[in-house]
Amino acid sequence: MKVLVIGLGGVTNGGKTTLAKRLRKQLPNCSILSQDDFFKPECEVEIDEHGFKQYDVLDALYMEEMVTSIHSWMKNPTGSSVSTAESKSTPVNLKSTEEVHILIAEGFLLYNYEPLNEVWDRRYFLTIPYEECKRRRSTRVYQPADPPGYFDGHVWPMYLKHKREMEENKNNIGMVYIIFKYIKIIKSSDFCKSLYFSRIFLAFMQQC
Ligand SMILES: Nc1ncnc2c1ncn2[C@@H]1O[C@H](COP(=O)(O)OP(=O)(O)O)[C@@H](O)[C@H]1O
Ligand SMILES: [Mg+2]
Repeated sequence: MKVLVIGLGGVTNGGKTTLAKRLRKQLPNCSILSQDDFFKPECEVEIDEHGFKQYDVLDALYMEEMVTSIHSWMKNPTGSSVSTAESKSTPVNLKSTEEVHILIAEGFLLYNYEPLNEVWDRRYFLTIPYEECKRRRSTRVYQPADPPGYFDGHVWPMYLKHKREMEENKNNIGMVYIIFKYIKIIKSSDFCKSLYFSRIFLAFMQQC
């Protein structure tokens, strides 16, 4: 049995969850693990001098638990206690000569935490332009809700900071940069183009 751990990281509202779910429908034995499920409770999240809750940082997440969950899935993908939603059907167009189990770990802060860097078989980074990101974010209802100015005062600056740190980390160069090229294909809110991206993505994964 082969196991593959795929990282689907990137900006908030970049389409990570949407793409992960779409891929799960098309891939056999595919589970999703969402970083959003590892947020600490609100009372444990720090507040900065402007009164903004510091959600978009590693300290707001139980990262050790996330790593443990991925490792436990890797050891036992069928019996893992990891709470993942698994695909039920196997697409007819995928050959399954060897049993392959795939875990798609998706989240906004995957590649800035050293212990996670060793788990990826493939990793991708989704990004969209500032205006589109802000627009999409404003249509979402978060718990707790984004206060006025939160996107520009916390979310976007943290995204830029983490992206810069990710790109400066030599371990991340190569894989991530290739994906930036593909991401240019889906920088607009065009679902047809994003489907095209999914096909490229699938082709990538079938090469594993
Ligand atoms: N390729 C796309 N084109 C346009 N809108 C998209 C696309 N992918 C996702 N969306 C929309 O963007 C919003 C955020 O998508 P989501 O997958 O939840 O992002 P993330 O998990 O990265 O935060 C949702 O409203 C979703 O419908
Ligand atoms: Mg999401």
